[in-house]
Amino acid sequence: MTEALAFDDVLLVPTYTEVRSRSVPKLDTEIAGIKLTAPMISSPMDTVTEAKMAIAMGLAGGMGVIHRFMSPGEQVDNLRSVVRAEEAHKKEIPKVAAVGLGSYEVARFKELWSSVPLDAVLIDVANGHSSYMAEGLGRIKDIAPDVKIIAGNVATGEGFYFLGNTGMVDAVRGGIGSGSICSTRIQTGFGIPLLHTIIECSRARASAIQLKNIAIIADGGIRYPSDMVKAITAGADAVMCGSILSATDETPGELIRDENAPIAYKTYRGMASAEVQRDHRGGLKSLTCAEGVSTRLPAKGPVTPIIEEFCGGLRSGMTYANATNISELRQNAKFIKITHAGLLESHAFGTRK
Ligand code: XMP
Repeated sequence: MTEALAFDDVLLVPTYTEVRSRSVPKLDTEIAGIKLTAPMISSPMDTVTEAKMAIAMGLAGGMGVIHRFMSPGEQVDNLRSVVRAEEAHKKEIPKVAAVGLGSYEVARFKELWSSVPLDAVLIDVANGHSSYMAEGLGRIKDIAPDVKIIAGNVATGEGFYFLGNTGMVDAVRGGIGSGSICSTRIQTGFGIPLLHTIIECSRARASAIQLKNIAIIADGGIRYPSDMVKAITAGADAVMCGSILSATDETPGELIRDENAPIAYKTYRGMASAEVQRDHRGGLKSLTCAEGVSTRLPAKGPVTPIIEEFCGGLRSGMTYANATNISELRQNAKFIKITHAGLLESHAFGTRK
């Protein structure tokens, strides 16, 4: 049986460095033709990314993907808000939206493509390593041969290879069942630790010349800045995040106030949760089960300090690897496998009672 390592199973080995300041490393990356200065993408989820989040992510150098659990017209309105923010801030902000597969979703894409200057479309499917995805890619490309496509999700190098070899994909979203609100692994027994998925995708990309420009997005399960550093060292070009950005001022959804508690909350929920199925599809479809959960999290305030903290962790990590950019980080940093005792030592334990 193959061993699959997770973020907590490894650390990065500090090396001799000549990078003296955390202001030296640059975090520039490119996803589906979109240049980013912060390798972070907010998830296309109904409690994470609408226009407000996409604008905040874009202004911070990252990007947000407008979710698809709204009408095509509402999605167009969200993208138009992003365009207006670009004009107001005189700064390019990525205009990216999610669509699904199936006739209604292809029609959704058609409407988006004809209404707004989309930088890329994300095809949002639980298992992108499928004939259904290959057919869907063809239908999208028939409408817009030049559109940049982010497709997924896949869990293996074979999945990456499959999507890459269609010749229609510019970036692949890797990660199945690793997200904080996912219950896919518990419901189905399927999934792979995210770090292992990224290592496999990265090896697949290196194995064939035609795949070398396809970006890898590490999606689901980023908890700490160190997870982002490890994912990017393993080959990801950006991380996709829901939980860490959730319950901020920029997320959709009302603040929930409990009379007896001084703090306010916001909902964060998996897109395959029973709650989402109820709100958007009139309930769970027969023969299916929920593969996500819903939770309430204390409101966190603005999102920008969170993005800055994660990018700060990445910059600092790069100084330990004598790296001034992401490709040097990948060349210089080596993983080391640790034991459970090593993990216990890694978390700040000075405050443990
Ligand atoms: P984090 O850990 O950042 O993960 O909260 C966000 C990612 O989780 C995925 N996602 C789901 N996966 N069931 C799943 O198995 C779900 O209901 C679900 N909702 C979101 C998605 O890839 C997202 O970016």
